[in-house]
Amino acid sequence: MMIARTLEELRAAREALGPVGFVPTMGALHAGHLHLVATAKAAGLPVAASIFVNPTQFGPKEDFARYPRDEAGDLDKLERAGCALAWLPGVGEMYPPHHATSIHVNGPAAHWEGASRPGHFSGVATVVAKLFGQVRPEAAYFGEKDWQQVQVVSRMVADLGLPVRIVPVPTVREADGLALSSRNRYLTEAERKGAPALYKALTQAAEQIMAGKEVAAILHLTRQSLAQAGMVPDYVALVHAHTLEPIAGLAQPARLIAAAKLGAVRLLDNIPVG
Ligand code: PAF
Repeated sequence: MMIARTLEELRAAREALGPVGFVPTMGALHAGHLHLVATAKAAGLPVAASIFVNPTQFGPKEDFARYPRDEAGDLDKLERAGCALAWLPGVGEMYPPHHATSIHVNGPAAHWEGASRPGHFSGVATVVAKLFGQVRPEAAYFGEKDWQQVQVVSRMVADLGLPVRIVPVPTVREADGLALSSRNRYLTEAERKGAPALYKALTQAAEQIMAGKEVAAILHLTRQSLAQAGMVPDYVALVHAHTLEPIAGLAQPARLIAAAKLGAVRLLDNIPVG
């Protein structure tokens, strides 16, 4: 596996490889990331993965400084997964002195994570656009666990006419249903046992909505059941799967999305409905 840490090294590696599939990450890799790499590999192109903990997508009170970092472990995992290239830019490589350009996103970025984490999706869109410009992939693979992120990136690619195909990849879950996330490692033993309640509540809510029960009532009950499970729900919503606007019924492609705090950890999950 080639490792590039500067734009010059990246350019040389990209010339050697030709077209690539791309998996952008912030490291602390788990089986969900490796599933993205495997999906990209199965599509037949060499795979490039990036590891960059992007400061601009963290709020001032968020966990940028203590976000898990394990470069040696991550490189080992990428190599074993058959990655052809690892791109590990430094902050100066991504945000050169006097940088003054960022991407403003609205539409699917407006609500939910966008409302709870002001500036988050601008940071994501900006770094993803930079990564696409640097790596120039044919296709880029994103986990559906961050459903809103996938819609924001897809919207940006369509709006800016970027020459890359976005491939959403289904969420990888633990046996008890908990969606894999780098932040799960911060759950205490007791919280880890309770964490699958989020997926369970979403699954039950989806069944009720599909059975024709009133959406607002079901969302209310779901928030209550999360609180009973010891979580502090931020939002539970039925939304248009691509615009992320709230919807009251199943006439359009629908997604049930939720975020809830369990102890110090913010859990996110979503499932299709209908
Ligand atoms: O999903 C992530 O890990 C990050 O938001 C991404 C897409 C790598 C951008 O920093």
